[in-house]
Amino acid sequence: MYVFRDYYNNVVKLSFEKNPFSEEPMHVLVICRYQDKWLLTKHKTRGLEFPGGKVEENETAQEAAIREVKEETGANIADIHYIGQYHVEGKGDQVDKNIYYARISEIVEQPTYYETDGPVLLEKLPKNIKQKRQFSFIMKDDIVKRSLEQINKKFKD
Ligand code: GTP
Repeated sequence: MYVFRDYYNNVVKLSFEKNPFSEEPMHVLVICRYQDKWLLTKHKTRGLEFPGGKVEENETAQEAAIREVKEETGANIADIHYIGQYHVEGKGDQVDKNIYYARISEIVEQPTYYETDGPVLLEKLPKNIKQKRQFSFIMKDDIVKRSLEQINKKFKD
């Protein structure tokens, strides 16, 4: 398990075991790959981030992952894999989030992208994301870095 502080100095715990913190996490983050690029979305207030969000009632976490990717980017998923889970000790609340890796088959233009401005494709993620104002705070701790290491170990594109 990895323990670190996030951009707002909250304690974050990350593990690549199966459901280490919660059997029913209420949030998801989906690391998306499309044609040798990373697929992100531009959240209207937070900035560039991998798609994700809250699990709705009567929905599994993986179903939420598939839905959020579609809503925020218009992407259809070829295959999706559980990578890990993290727990954030927020100031007032706690969050448990599942991390998935999804390979995208196609991106279909949508009439709305909800609270985002839609899909953004990046050939590379910058090394110094922390210093980049256009990136969301959820991209600015060790979650993405460690998850990408894990994905690289498991999947050779
Ligand atoms: P709404 O109910 O949609 O307004 O969301 P919220 O602002 O209450 O945020 P949410 O329930 O998604 O998360 C609560 C707090 O957990 C946030 O303010 C963050 O501090 C923290 N948090 C949520 N997601 C992440 C994440 O992916 N990474 C980190 N480091 N913190 C997160």
